[in-house]
Formats: sequence, structure tokens, C-alpha cells
Amino acid sequence: MFIKNTWYVACSLAELEALGDKPLGRTICNEKMAIFKGVDGKVAAVEDFCPHRGAPMSLGKACKNGLRCGYHGLEMGADGKTVHMPGQRVRGFPAVKAFAVVERYGFVWVWPGDQAQADEAQMPMFEFFDNPAWAYGGGLYHVQADYRLMIDNLMDLTHETYVHSTSIGQPEIDETPCETKVDGDKVVTQRFMDGIQAPPFWQMAMSANGLDPQAQVDRWQICRFSPPSHIMIDVGVALAGHGGFDAPADKKAYSVVVDFITPETETSHWYHWGMARNFKADDAALTDSIRQGQGKIFGEDMEMLQLQQQNILRHPERKLLMLNIDAGGVQSRRVIDRLLAQEKTTETGANA
Ligand code: FES
Ligand SMILES: [Fe+2]
Repeated sequence: MFIKNTWYVACSLAELEALGDKPLGRTICNEKMAIFKGVDGKVAAVEDFCPHRGAPMSLGKACKNGLRCGYHGLEMGADGKTVHMPGQRVRGFPAVKAFAVVERYGFVWVWPGDQAQADEAQMPMFEFFDNPAWAYGGGLYHVQADYRLMIDNLMDLTHETYVHSTSIGQPEIDETPCETKVDGDKVVTQRFMDGIQAPPFWQMAMSANGLDPQAQVDRWQICRFSPPSHIMIDVGVALAGHGGFDAPADKKAYSVVVDFITPETETSHWYHWGMARNFKADDAALTDSIRQGQGKIFGEDMEMLQLQQQNILRHPERKLLMLNIDAGGVQSRRVIDRLLAQEKTTETGANA
């Protein structure tokens, strides 16, 4: 069960553009889609099903009319209606579903639910994309686990001490209690660690920003969940005693971990991860080395989550514990459940 009347990241523009005139076949919230860049340069998404014989449209090619099926040449517009097929009259052909898409922030966003409700004004806003003061680098993982396990993971960073012991983990994370707050549909879980030694990843970032990597620091982690499944995490270190998160720019290394989590099926998801930073924004080599470091760190999470999912599937009857450290994930799941129930009520109302 997914919130479907909302925007999800379907893919990065770079991923789509690398395919040239070929569509990207992707399942989002159990909807199989063929996402393509038309010859007019506009991105579109249609159901991955040809009305002729059911071939996947994602094996076709962009054409003047929209998308051409790779089996017998049926041509479909971005609206899912058949426009042309060699030697056939196509007027009576059934249309397939077309999905609303928006190109923004270097990603293709899609609305998998009721198309009549698709509303661009509901797109989330981020100040760090398309902003020269910030640099962004990221990647994509296909994770064989319920997307909510990823939300749990990112809304509880206690795991860093164990899963990421060689990069961003340190015992102080585990020893410092976190605080979780709910504000409407938003959940924030945060932890502040003062007067500590920076872990390896942050030592690297301090050096890159001209700070002494051995200096004592105040470190923060502020995880922000917003529906359906976006998590932005303010992370950083500042030279101890300069105000932590609020320290002046020349006393800290600070970034936002960007997580767009897109459900594929009940037990798999697309994880678009990245980091936006506002120091040394024009240093492309630094962007690359952060991307590599982050990719390795998130690879460690992926392994944990996939095996956790298998365990849960093997023992569906087992009740899992909910501890203090789990509050961020638990509260985020509550928001999702509430919005799901609302979506269901609206649907039932509309069908009545
Ligand atoms: S299945 Fe697509 S044209 Fe025949
Ligand atoms: Fe992690």
C-alpha cells in the first residue's frame, strides 16, 4: 500500500538521457511505466503496455508521434492514445494510462495515482538545487526491501556506530540520546554531539574546507521526513564552541544528505541518494570523492536492509520492538498510514 496521489522521483534526467531515444521501463508504486524523452524534448510517462498485443512499450523508441512500440510499430502519444499503426485504422484502439510528469532539480518526478488530481503546485521545494552556492552529487540504488525500512534506517542514525564504523560512525552517536518531534505531516529527529573528535568522513570534509581535521568539534544530525518519503538530513561538524549548526561558514563543514525513496513493489524500492553541500561548491573532484564515500556508506545500509527484509518475510508473525531510537521511523510511518487512510476515504467517497 502506497500513497499514490503525490510526486515521487522516477529517475534522474541523466539516467533517462543516457538512453537516447529509448524509454526507461520502471515500476513505481506497482505501476509499470515507460518513461521517455519525446523528440520535442519533453519527458512523458505511459503505461508499459501496448494496446495491440501487450508488449512492453519500454522496448520501443521515441518517434514523431510520441512512442513507437518495438513489436509491430504502433505509435502512441504522450497521452497514451494510439495515433498510428502501419496498415491499420487505430480510432477504436483503447488508450493506456498516461502519468503526469515534471522535470525538476535534475530529476523526473511522476504522479502514479489519480491523474485528475496531479498538481504541480504540490511539488516539494529545495533551496540547494539549481543554486550556484551549492554543489550536488548523488546516485541510485535498487534495494530489495520495503521502502519503509529505508525510512526507519534514515530516521534513526544510531546505526551509524555499527553499520558505518569506518566512515561516519562513532560511539558518541550511540551514547547521545536523540529527540523526535512531529509537526503536522513532518517528522524531525535530531541529535547534537558536542566536544568530540570528528569521524573519518568529517575529517576529510574539514580538511577540504580548510579546517584542522584533528580539532574538537560539535557535530549535529537533523533528520527531516516529509511525505511521501523524502528525507533531508542536515549533517555537519563545527569547531567546538562556535555555535554548532549555527556556527559561521568558515568554522564548519556542513551538508544536506538528500534521500528520495521511491517504492517499486511492497518489498523493493528505488533509492536516490545524494549530498548537497555549500562549501567548495565548484570543486568537482570533491563532489566526486564525496559521492564515492557516500555510495560506499549507503551500500552498507543496503546489505543490512535486504537481509533484514528477508528475515521479516521469513517470520511474518514476529512482532518487532519499538525503542526510543526508533521514534523517528515510527512517527514517519504514522504519517504515511494517516495519509494512506485519507487517500482511501477520498477514493471510496468518489466511487460512492
Ligand atoms: S504489441 Fe505493440 S504493436 Fe504489436
Ligand atoms: Fe546508514
